[in-house]
Amino acid sequence: MERHFTLGEFIIENQKDFPYAKGELSALLSSIKLAGKLVNQQINKAGLAEILGKIGKQNVQGEAQAKLDVIANDIFIDTFRNRGEVCGLGSEELEDVVIFDDEIHREAKYIILIDPLDGSSNIDVDITVGTIFSIYRRISEVGSPVTPEDFLQPGRNQVAAGYIIYGTSTILVYTSGNGVNGFTFDPGIGSFFLSHPNIKFPKKGNTYSINEGNYVHFPDGIKKYLKWVQELDEEEKRPFTSRYTGSLVADFHRNMLLGGIYLYPQGTTAPQGKLRLLYESNPMAFLTEQAGGKATNGSERILDIIPEELHQRIPFICGNKDMVEKAESFLSQF
Ligand code: AHG
Ligand code: MN
Ligand code: MN
Ligand code: MN
Repeated sequence: MERHFTLGEFIIENQKDFPYAKGELSALLSSIKLAGKLVNQQINKAGLAEILGKIGKQNVQGEAQAKLDVIANDIFIDTFRNRGEVCGLGSEELEDVVIFDDEIHREAKYIILIDPLDGSSNIDVDITVGTIFSIYRRISEVGSPVTPEDFLQPGRNQVAAGYIIYGTSTILVYTSGNGVNGFTFDPGIGSFFLSHPNIKFPKKGNTYSINEGNYVHFPDGIKKYLKWVQELDEEEKRPFTSRYTGSLVADFHRNMLLGGIYLYPQGTTAPQGKLRLLYESNPMAFLTEQAGGKATNGSERILDIIPEELHQRIPFICGNKDMVEKAESFLSQF
């Protein structure tokens, strides 16, 4: 009989991949699991608990914050404050990083970056949302206060990254550099179980995900690429199918399981696109590569980009390698 690992068992089993980690990374992943369960519980009853809607304030990104953006953010911060695995946390919802500067947290080796609730515009209409996380080993010396450089590392330095998708099921998907695995939450038992082992992009994809309403703002290469995906070519299974929810986590998850490409290019109103390098593009790029795909800003590997600031935006294209390379070839020609 096939063994049904819980996420906790799986993490312990794979701890041997991190001889230097001595269990801290495992404990960190357990904290994410715990915070994810708490967020899941809030999302599931949001309409009843009167926690839908906006709070009437903007976050540092200039976006109207939803109540659940703030709730999810607070849950993650409280979870990491109450436990000792990270010395600092950066969030899409906060202007500055949170430094946990006490005796216990100063000894922690890791920092975490989070998009506490991805797809906030979908919360009030019951469409899938997510949480995205990205973990780095600190560069500064353990025992000293965390520094800005600890948060501004290139994505290739990530030691783990993943997301929780609150969809028809709640699934936690993560990589620690040794493939991508997904764990479905069983609400009756309260545990995540391995349901999607060793996820890889399928060989061929024919779905594209982009907010095509922004077409007029896109660079010429993207406009030409979009015309190409819509052309008839029976052998190549074109035109491709268009699927876009407005939740990166949902669009990414579908494309990784079924094959596809996700694009959030630059446009004249958003010179660097919308997605945030640290909270969205880097973790998704790490997962993409671990699942056999490719992630680029159009010309450079996302994971090699050196971040300049916490809330930096970046044009983002990811998905099946051949599909991404095709899009890049259009960008380089026009
Ligand atoms: P968030 O809800 O965390 O601010 O992220 C929203 C992001 C991403 O999830 C999604 O793919 C994209 O913004 C949607 O943007 P558009 O509404 O411009 O298409
Ligand atoms: Mn937001
Ligand atoms: Mn997001
Ligand atoms: Mn968000």
